[in-house]
Amino acid sequence: MPEVNEIKAHIEKLRAEINRHNRLYHVLDSPEISDAEYDALMRELKQLEEQNPQLVTPDSPTQRVGAAPVEAFGVVEHTRPLLSLGNAFSDDDLLAWYTRTIKLVGERPFDFVCEHKIDGLAIALTYIDGQFTTGATRGDGLRGENITQNLRTVRSIPLSVPKDAPRRFEVRGEVYLPKTGFHKLNREREDEGLPLFANPRNAAAGSVRQLDPRITAKRPLDIYIYMLGWVEGKATPPTHWETMEWLKSLGFRINPNNRQMKTIEQIKEYYRTWVEQRAGLPYEADGIVVKINQINLHEELGDIGHEPRWAIAYKFPAMQGTTILKSIEISVGRTGTLNPFAALEPVKVGGVTIKSAALHNEDDIRRKDIREGDTVILQRAGDVIPEIIGPTPSSKERPGRSAEFSLLDKLPKNEQGEVVCPACRQTSIIKPEGEVMYYCANAACPAQAQLRIEHFASRGAMDIRGIGESMSATLYQKGLVKNAADLYYLTQEKLAEMERMGEKSAANIINAINTSKDRPLARVIYGLGIRHVGEEIGQVLAANFPSIDNLAKASRDDLMKISAIGPKIADSIVGFFGQTENLEIIQRLKDAGAKLEETATAPKDLPLSGKEFVLTGKMESFSRPEAEARIKELGGSAKDNVTHKTDYVVYGADPGSKLTRARELGIKTIEEKEFLKLINQNKIPGG
Ligand code: IVH
Repeated sequence: MPEVNEIKAHIEKLRAEINRHNRLYHVLDSPEISDAEYDALMRELKQLEEQNPQLVTPDSPTQRVGAAPVEAFGVVEHTRPLLSLGNAFSDDDLLAWYTRTIKLVGERPFDFVCEHKIDGLAIALTYIDGQFTTGATRGDGLRGENITQNLRTVRSIPLSVPKDAPRRFEVRGEVYLPKTGFHKLNREREDEGLPLFANPRNAAAGSVRQLDPRITAKRPLDIYIYMLGWVEGKATPPTHWETMEWLKSLGFRINPNNRQMKTIEQIKEYYRTWVEQRAGLPYEADGIVVKINQINLHEELGDIGHEPRWAIAYKFPAMQGTTILKSIEISVGRTGTLNPFAALEPVKVGGVTIKSAALHNEDDIRRKDIREGDTVILQRAGDVIPEIIGPTPSSKERPGRSAEFSLLDKLPKNEQGEVVCPACRQTSIIKPEGEVMYYCANAACPAQAQLRIEHFASRGAMDIRGIGESMSATLYQKGLVKNAADLYYLTQEKLAEMERMGEKSAANIINAINTSKDRPLARVIYGLGIRHVGEEIGQVLAANFPSIDNLAKASRDDLMKISAIGPKIADSIVGFFGQTENLEIIQRLKDAGAKLEETATAPKDLPLSGKEFVLTGKMESFSRPEAEARIKELGGSAKDNVTHKTDYVVYGADPGSKLTRARELGIKTIEEKEFLKLINQNKIPGG
């Protein structure tokens, strides 16, 4: 038996560790460990506290529900606390919960409702006199953040309910980002060089807790309502199942996978089914929630700590596994990035066989100390690309372990012994200063060329149906299309000659190609695949340069006058238009009739028409490009320097000399909050 002091020290260490992970997860939206690892820490702490109740303190992480609310949003006091759920990790745990419940309920019959435990963000929605009035996060269970404006942008949240709804009531549910939306968001962030979200839950949390509802509105968030919080002035159904049916009739989105169950066997069956099939769900689920159906029993059973006795979460098995990292290979990305990835000894994780995993960049591999031959811990989150967390501890101590990873050592060499690109075999490898990635700078590199065609035709760019990954690869390999412009010179006859291509499909593709000629300039710019120019920067550039020719002629300085454009992006743009091949592509796009000018001039009666803005200091709730794009959409312009012509100087934290200058010139200065009001007065999409 260890000394009480030793136990106490261990408990304290666990608490500190859990608190750190809580903050990483809830506040910073960037967890360092998997949910399974977190659950294990929590379980250990709970068990120790149960065995040593004298050591429980009110500030122990077991004694609270979530993270404290962030002040910036304004606080909502929950009328009734938002609880958390106890966890079951095995059939035995489930059975133990059932046995405890039977003991308390006695002879009276009851049944269950099984639901998916969606991995998103818990929220509470209040309706008064038929209107959606307040939306709040769970926060610490008692006080949450007021995120009403953001939630108003979620289209599946009804802004009003029918007349026969209760006068005042609150529903609770989970806001989440569907997997497709999550992937799209991360692709965009990758294009723009922003850090990626680790999983859909973090992406949803990051989206909902934006100070600017405009950003939330752009994210395809969805919601499932899973319970009634409280209600005033109306009798409610006696069961949870009927309550959900009733809420559905009021316009709330209820998960169609919910099921009413009579026995524990049926619950286990439901659980097993979804363990198998969860990968196919459009959202991330980390378990099932089993709820007792009879509401009168909820009140009677009550809570223990912050967990109700009438419900339990039966968690899905952790999607982790270990396997051997056979080797680290390099693939070439669209913009020439040399992307390291792991070739793994095939292993089944959560029902899916994994053979490879992304490894991001050299720094990341070194930081995690991942080496060839190591036994590594692998983690999958839904259908997200599997990730390597790191080597197992024992693997690190293995004698004869291979050397620290070096990307250059991995590249093939030519006869002179110089490193070359694995795709084009040219000595074109560069690593721009301050960047983590190595690139192949050869514009004619076939690996890049093929991916560039695919990118040009992709959804966010020219959106050409029928030209996806495999079609662009085939077209390129057959020599029919060497670059984006070639697409517009394809003929139906040429296409129809390809294997397995009917006349009808060929006609459809040609049709889709022709339709794409009308896409706005912003999409063409994005579609060109200029390094560091994502969808958003594409919009900023189109708003500042009314034609591609203007953009092509812009100098580094011209570009850097736009505050969304820093030296890295400016250099990349100038470099792109400095290459004859690219200018040729643009000329041929033009000849084919693609729209390379912005024809529509901004109407004069937009809310910010003719107003000039200058931004200074650090803004909390939006990025520069976002703010500038919004100003332009509303008819205004964003400038870099304060002059007599400036109408507003918007300042954030640590403003620079621009603010002083504005005050000297007597120009109106406004804080970020006021600016948000100004740009948001005019409709929130979906709101
Ligand atoms: S019922 C008092 N049902 O899981 C019971 N919760 O740790 C409250 N969750 O914070 C929750 N899907 O955000 C319930 N179908 C579902 C759920 C669900 C996800 C989340 C919820 C809660 C957490 C419990």
